[in-house]
Amino acid sequence: MKKEREVKQVVTAHKQTEGGGFLVRRPLPSMELHDFDPFLLIDEIGPIEYKPGEAMGAPDHPHRGFETVTYLIKGEVKHEDSAGHEGYIGPGDVQWMTAGSGIVHSEMPTEKGITDGGVMHGFQIWVNLPSYKKMTPPRYQEIPRNEIPEAISEDGLTTVKVIAGEALGVKAGIDTYTPIVFQDWELKPGAQVITTIPEDFNVGVYLFSGSVQVGSKLKVVNNGQFAVLEKGVDVKFTIPESAKEGARFLLLGGTPNNEPVARSGPFVMNTEAELRQAYQDFRNGKMGTIQR
Ligand code: CO
Repeated sequence: MKKEREVKQVVTAHKQTEGGGFLVRRPLPSMELHDFDPFLLIDEIGPIEYKPGEAMGAPDHPHRGFETVTYLIKGEVKHEDSAGHEGYIGPGDVQWMTAGSGIVHSEMPTEKGITDGGVMHGFQIWVNLPSYKKMTPPRYQEIPRNEIPEAISEDGLTTVKVIAGEALGVKAGIDTYTPIVFQDWELKPGAQVITTIPEDFNVGVYLFSGSVQVGSKLKVVNNGQFAVLEKGVDVKFTIPESAKEGARFLLLGGTPNNEPVARSGPFVMNTEAELRQAYQDFRNGKMGTIQR
């Protein structure tokens, strides 16, 4: 076994209302955690049950300089953008959008979601781009649930949806500009499993169901908590056999950019001048508009 990663810091994400009235839990950025390079934002959306007519979304807004990753557990989102893409994401689907040089998009409930209401649960995660990729043309990768490779441990107690990176010998199909680990892990009571992540990655674990013990020191991480791990290679997860329930979490990792971050609203660049340019380009319509 290679050098193990133990838990360095645990951040408890509190429920808060965002923007148009989204209910989110946001461990990053937060009072306790500003910096988790190359990740910029980790939002768990819901779970929230909308009554008929209550569902809400994020109408037309721009992004530049990073990638937004949407992963749904429950519910449905309709998206449109200024590059002419349009589609739906449903439970288990992933949308990996590279905003790059600039895009205007909308993420809204479907007509059915508005009429009928229902449960919305998912994630939006922002991944920073290195300076030389910030002005890359916008790109969409949409991965439906049945195309996300799944790994199962030999004892059958651990299942992983490998959205990005590699786990238990299974590789993701997605193409990321910098090496990223983005995986949905589910462990049953009695599970003990080790995964290997290259040493230069920053690694964190966000629990969204149950509790799991991380590392050889068996640090307990609970639902709604984000654990930042120490430098190392192997990551060990354990659930005691006596546990009443299993756990489900996102395992996130990436190689840090180690660059200055200038951030304002929907834009993330390296300098204040680049941010001003982004606002100017948006106002001048250079990021386009959604044609409807
Ligand atoms: Co957006």
